[in-house]
Amino acid sequence: MSDLIDRYAVFGNPIKHSKSPQIHTLFAEQTNQSLTYSAVHAEVGQFEQAVKNFIKDNGKGLNITVPFKEDAWKLATRHSDRSKRAGAVNTLKLEQDGSLYGDTTDGVGLVRDLMHNHHIEISNKTILIIGAGGAVRGIIEALLAQHPASILISNRTKQKAVQLAKDFSDLGTIDGCGLDDISNNSFDLIINGTSASLQGELPALPGSIFADHSCSYDMMYAAQATVFMQWSLDNGAEQVFDGLGMLVEQAAESFYIWRGVRPETSPVIKHLRETL
Ligand code: ATR
Repeated sequence: MSDLIDRYAVFGNPIKHSKSPQIHTLFAEQTNQSLTYSAVHAEVGQFEQAVKNFIKDNGKGLNITVPFKEDAWKLATRHSDRSKRAGAVNTLKLEQDGSLYGDTTDGVGLVRDLMHNHHIEISNKTILIIGAGGAVRGIIEALLAQHPASILISNRTKQKAVQLAKDFSDLGTIDGCGLDDISNNSFDLIINGTSASLQGELPALPGSIFADHSCSYDMMYAAQATVFMQWSLDNGAEQVFDGLGMLVEQAAESFYIWRGVRPETSPVIKHLRETL
């Protein structure tokens, strides 16, 4: 009977292409944790029932992806401070008393990937973040916690960037502007948090944002360099990275929340990269 084994899953719709089962299975093998991790395609409107069924069947924790992040937020009875700031829950943990704890691991995932995997300094650096959607909201607190010199959020819809910056202004130096408002400024670290790369599109930005030493990071990933990475190189960025490491690092943080054990991420990133 499978009910003796702790079960974990990612819930989404669609969910077929999720790499989370592969990542967490590798983590479990590496750390000798006895668990299973699957991808669950839940129907819209039936998320809560699907979670309840999963828990009844020895489900101990979940990752949540589109379109259920708001449902997951509502289902959690306790939220981490960072998930409150991010307004998002990507990890649910079943507590001993049967309640659900909600947390978000994306911000930590990005910062770990930058600092530990790529050895990029954040403290005292100038950061440009492009985009002002949910993905960007999820990373700001973790970046500000590293004390950058400043963060500028630039978005196609300027007002969203301005509002987002306001929401975090108590935590550090952060401003918002439109894509047109960046003129002759260059930045140490440029992060693309828009969904443009998914469509092979580029946000309309001037190449002058790059200095000789600039590092460019696309939160998306692909087998080849994304259009944003290629454009960054063509316009003078020194280093470019995609978001594969962030994906694995946010998974590792979820794994830690559930199991209290921190897996080693580098062999898993390497494995995924080879099989993209
Ligand atoms: P996510 O949850 O992935 O952040 P989202 O909340 O829909 O998704 O946000 C998508 C972000 O990508 C937004 O900042 C969006 O800009 P707008 O707020 O102006 O819509 C940005 N975006 C998407 N496609 C873009 C493009 N082709 N050029 C520039 N920005 C783009």
